[in-house]
Order: sequence, then C-alpha cells, then structure tokens
Amino acid sequence: MRYPLIIGNWKLNGSKKFIDTFIVGLCRKFHGIEGCKVVIAPPMVYLDQVKQVICNTKLLLGAQNVDINLSGAFTGEVSASMLKDIGARYIIIGHSERRSLHSEDDQVIAKKFLVLKNKDLIPVLCIGETAAEKMAGQTKTICARQIDVILKLHGAEVFQNTVIAYEPIWAIGTGCAATAEQIQTIHTFIRDHIAQKDPKVADQLIIQYGGSVTKNNAAEIFSQPDVDGVLVGSASLILDSFIDIIKLASTKKYKI
Ligand code: PGA
Repeated sequence: MRYPLIIGNWKLNGSKKFIDTFIVGLCRKFHGIEGCKVVIAPPMVYLDQVKQVICNTKLLLGAQNVDINLSGAFTGEVSASMLKDIGARYIIIGHSERRSLHSEDDQVIAKKFLVLKNKDLIPVLCIGETAAEKMAGQTKTICARQIDVILKLHGAEVFQNTVIAYEPIWAIGTGCAATAEQIQTIHTFIRDHIAQKDPKVADQLIIQYGGSVTKNNAAEIFSQPDVDGVLVGSASLILDSFIDIIKLASTKKYKI
C-alpha cells in the first residue's frame, strides 16, 4: 500500500553531539503524529547511534549507500547484510552525488538494487536529469533509461515494495525546486512506465520527490496525486523545518 514517506538524507553531515540533540528533539516532536513514515539516513558511522536513540519510537533507520558485495576484500565498503544487521531498512542508491562523484553507473546501481532486494531491504532508487538534459527535453528519456536497466534485467515485479525518488539534479541543493506541476508530470510518467509492464506493481509504488524541498514548498508538492513522499537533504538537518514537512506529509489523503 502507498503511504507518505519522508526520508532525511543527512549526506556528509552530523556528529555524536548533533544526533543527541536533534534526534531526541525529533522523537519528542514526532510523538503522536500518525499517517506517514519517517526515515533518518545518517552517515554510516552514526547508524548505530541513531538506531539506539530511535529504537522505542516509530522513526526508521535508513542508509545512504550499499556495496554490491556481501563480504570479502572490499576495503571501505558496507554490505546489505551489515545494514540489515544494524537495523537499517530504507537504503538510498543511485543518488546523483554518487553517480557523478563516485562514477556509479546504471549497471552498478542495478546490482545494488538487487542485493538489497535479496536481503529484504527497501531500495530507494534515485533518478533524474541534469539541467542540460532538461533543456534538451530529455527528462523522460533519462528517467526511463535509469529505470529500464533494472526493469529489463529483473522485470517489474522487483519494484514491489521499493521506492523511486525523482531528483532532478538541477534542483538538488540549489534552492530551486521543480514546480509541483513538473513533479506530477514526471511522477505520472514513472508510474505509467512501470504500469506498462505491471499495473499492480506501479499502482503500489512509492514515488518520492527530492531537490530543495522545504517547509514552504512541501504542501504544494504533497498535494500532487502521484507524490508519495519527499527525500529531503538540507532541510532534514533543521529540526523545525523537518518536523513541519513531516506534519504536512501526515495530512496527505489518497483517493481510494
Ligand atoms: P536538498 O537535497 O534537499 O538539499 O536539495 C536533496 C537530496 O540530495 O536528496
């Protein structure tokens, strides 16, 4: 079933002290809010600390990356088994910063997707176009290509119980979010694209938007029928902003 999903992607931010104050404050303010799921994806080194603080709350743990291998001689990597062991559930893969700064291509990302599925973890597959690709009218082609690598290798069924995050690269960290209309257009396209292979899977797919989401634009973004959630970067590090986004998400109504 679709549900509003908010993921805070902390990227390379945070400290033991920050977690102690931020997560404790978040737990207090989140208490009693129903109707949405909230995931915190801190840097790997803080996963366990965050897990300890959220363990008696409804907050969930996420991670920002995973390796394609489960164990062995892969210095510096973290496996799906380890993420599962530590209690992480939603794992971000294919983020544009990993695609561009760490040269991760569609094939590697497809492997990460499958390794997570095999461990019963939830992949959060980030897709999206650059500013130049948008100008060239290639948004849908790029999004389709990024999904198709997985669709062709593993079929539509593999998208059951997964998340796709549409994150136009030009909107990430720029303060210039896509308009609600642009977001709805691409989210519909993504759902339809998967529906061509399996309408039931497409109907249940959680599609998030990411890129300069703030408490000021979240209401309009959530009002779009094909937006199930948001992947939040910088605003997820500001307690009042993040909790306002969560409150807006919790009021989302689905047409039955
Ligand atoms: P932003 O980042 O909210 O700071 O734009 C979003 C993301 O990269 O997931």
